[in-house]
Amino acid sequence: MKRLKVAQLLKEAPGQKVLAKGWVRTKRGNKNVAFIALNDGSTINNIQIVCDVEKFSEDLLKQITTGACIAVEGDLVESMGSGQAVEIQASSIEVYGIADSTYPLQKKGHSMEFLREIAHLRPRTNTFGAVLRIRHSMAFAIHKFFNDKGFYYLHTPLITASDCEGAGAMFQVTTMDLDNIPKTEEGKVDFSQDFFGRQTSLTVSGQLEGELGDTALGEIYTFGPTFRAENSNTPRHLAEFWMVEPEMAFYDINDNMDLAEEFIKYLVKYALDNCMDDITFLNNMFDKELIGRLQGVLKDNFVRLTYTEGIKILEKAVADGVKFEYPVGWGIDLQSEHERYLVEKHFGKPVILTDYPKDIKAFYMKQNEDGKTVRAMDVLFPKIGEIIGGSQREESFEKLSARIDELKMETRGLWWYMDTRRFGSAPHSGFGLGFERLLMFVTGMSNIRDVIPFPRTPNNAEF
Ligand code: 4AD
Ligand code: MG
Repeated sequence: MKRLKVAQLLKEAPGQKVLAKGWVRTKRGNKNVAFIALNDGSTINNIQIVCDVEKFSEDLLKQITTGACIAVEGDLVESMGSGQAVEIQASSIEVYGIADSTYPLQKKGHSMEFLREIAHLRPRTNTFGAVLRIRHSMAFAIHKFFNDKGFYYLHTPLITASDCEGAGAMFQVTTMDLDNIPKTEEGKVDFSQDFFGRQTSLTVSGQLEGELGDTALGEIYTFGPTFRAENSNTPRHLAEFWMVEPEMAFYDINDNMDLAEEFIKYLVKYALDNCMDDITFLNNMFDKELIGRLQGVLKDNFVRLTYTEGIKILEKAVADGVKFEYPVGWGIDLQSEHERYLVEKHFGKPVILTDYPKDIKAFYMKQNEDGKTVRAMDVLFPKIGEIIGGSQREESFEKLSARIDELKMETRGLWWYMDTRRFGSAPHSGFGLGFERLLMFVTGMSNIRDVIPFPRTPNNAEF
């Protein structure tokens, strides 16, 4: 008999023989009948298995405990209990794998901290099942959104010799023997003897290579793992996260903002249209305002204002007695508390902040006439703060070179990037969406470690 997944079984008409396979969530009952809640990951919902105790050996029934893996054949019948339309009246059960009393997920309601310690098993909980299914759906929707618009998926390298963001928070990649590092005559590390014949790291962004793509293919996006060695132990930072980076020729900053807003709304709507079982579960379990917040984002136009105007609002708030941990003033890099004040308290909707001071933004951003600001745009979201960072890019070879000199950046490694400005330079723009930050918003999870299967953070690379 062909096995049907639980998601399918729950939609089938009663009155047929079926085969289900999955993991036991709970078993309860009395001396005559046992009820097993079976889940196979295809849906948040379980299928109920009803066993007449006398039909099965005591030994077999003893093996069916929380966490065990079983196959069940039986009749799909209308359920008499509430909560499900159909259930399986079992005729035979095979135990694939027992789970003894040391199985850590015996009870419901474990803390998120505890579940992080057993990240190898937490996908078997309702919460992580829901999160991981939503994660999959969002990844799929990202590809669909861009494919439908004629963007090409460009695979940018993970190992790189350039530091896109210039923040210096890169993980080095080497095959050198760390106990015996080759040195140059000046006593420096001799990277010419390393695997790539130069110093390399894991990428902090695919953008620079993305710009090579958009100045050839028109509109591209990258979507892949990204690595940052900043030692920030916050609920919003990972050392390994996934970033979506579209890059578009002939887009100015306004086109860029339009795309970012359309993109996020598309993803939120896709989640509401396709993941409602899981979202409803998370809404009821953790965050009663989740669904309302998701629907809210679809209704409103995002507020668009300049950094300078944003600072004025924050300064006024401080004058009116609002307390921030970090000081406010023109030139500061906004902290999450500032971003969230603008979004949650002042406007009550997402905000796109533009035209940041050039000194707190990366070298490649288009310089404004005022000589002080650049055409940056950050999309700020309720509960999250920054969810997208992007900009119009500086397309002038001269201006970009001058900025690189001003920052005393190592230019030799960037010759290929500068060639895009040397040959057929084009006005263009792009942005990066933190995939896990999006997932925090869509799932309502308050810690970024709980929206990725195996989080990488300082002092944590288990599993
Ligand atoms: O603002 P960021 O640093 O921008 C860039 O890297 C640009 N090169 C993107 C581009 O224009 N193509 O990062 C983009 C986004 C942030 O807004 C945030 O959502 C996410 O990536 N992000 C992180 N997410 C999790 N953990 C971290 N340590 C993150 N750092 C950035
Ligand atoms: Mg940023």
